[in-house]
Amino acid sequence: ETFTTNFIIDEGLIEKIFKSRNEYSHKGSFGKVAIVGGSYGKMGAAVLSVKAALKSGAGLVFALSPQCGYEILQISCPEALFLEGGDKYIENIHVEENMVLGVGPGLGTHEKTEKSFLNFLKDYRNPLVLDADALNIISKNTSHHNLIPENSIITPHPKEFERLFGKTEDSFERTDLAVQKASELKLYIVLKDHHTQVICPNGNVFYNITGNSGLAKGGSGDILTGILTSLLAQGYSAENAAILGVWLHGRSADFAAEKYSKESMLPMDVVKELESTFLYIN
Ligand code: APR
Ligand code: MG
Repeated sequence: ETFTTNFIIDEGLIEKIFKSRNEYSHKGSFGKVAIVGGSYGKMGAAVLSVKAALKSGAGLVFALSPQCGYEILQISCPEALFLEGGDKYIENIHVEENMVLGVGPGLGTHEKTEKSFLNFLKDYRNPLVLDADALNIISKNTSHHNLIPENSIITPHPKEFERLFGKTEDSFERTDLAVQKASELKLYIVLKDHHTQVICPNGNVFYNITGNSGLAKGGSGDILTGILTSLLAQGYSAENAAILGVWLHGRSADFAAEKYSKESMLPMDVVKELESTFLYIN
């Protein structure tokens, strides 16, 4: 059994993890992100994720999406580049070696998407971020768990966690099961909730206390995926990316709530408020 130690993600820890931007740099210094997601009717998820990756400092951000999302993405995110992976849904995943991937937002679970994603994972070894439908596809068979590259970050909400690893009696049991799975599969599990937990393969559990109920809206999770992928691409370790990422996401939501109210704030406002958060910690 893995021994668990609990930590709170406080500003002292964030100060230690956060690296301010080196002035002697160019876009290559800050990594290449590819958000793999979007499908007909779910392009917004990919847009939010791509925007969040851009607003958290990545050097270059690509969207690997179906053709139906081409204009949507180019117009809403002029800074992003487009890689076509299908017509109405993704059926072909092709990326460059040096891209860091965030897979899942709006991906859908079309049979061909499933097949191409599982096939892709079979010979992919780099750490990546997996969310939403990427996790739902993996959930279809426990034998798929081993396809997730070591040191990846997965970001299930409670329902997705249950689909992946099974039912638990309460949130304490869920955390224990997550610790066991993180250790077994050598993964970082971002267990999303009111107080999101970052669960590390060594048994450490980091509790995030930023964020608020204004995040309880479709699209909030897609932003987190973009932030995490961006931080990984910028060279943060998976552990530091996960801790810093959940904190940034929640802190930006707190800034958005102050400005717009928890009721009216939208996920895109949270993306916008990333700028307040970076000004705050710089
Ligand atoms: N307090 C603090 N944080 C919250 C709260 C709350 N009350 N409610 C939600 N959040 C945060 C979570 O911690 C998480 O980071 O908002 C985010 C919600 O993420 P998801 O549950 O993935 O929600 P969503 O963005 O709607 O996901 C989009 O992905 O999981 C699929 O089925 C889902 O299609 C949907 C898509
Ligand atoms: Mg989600």
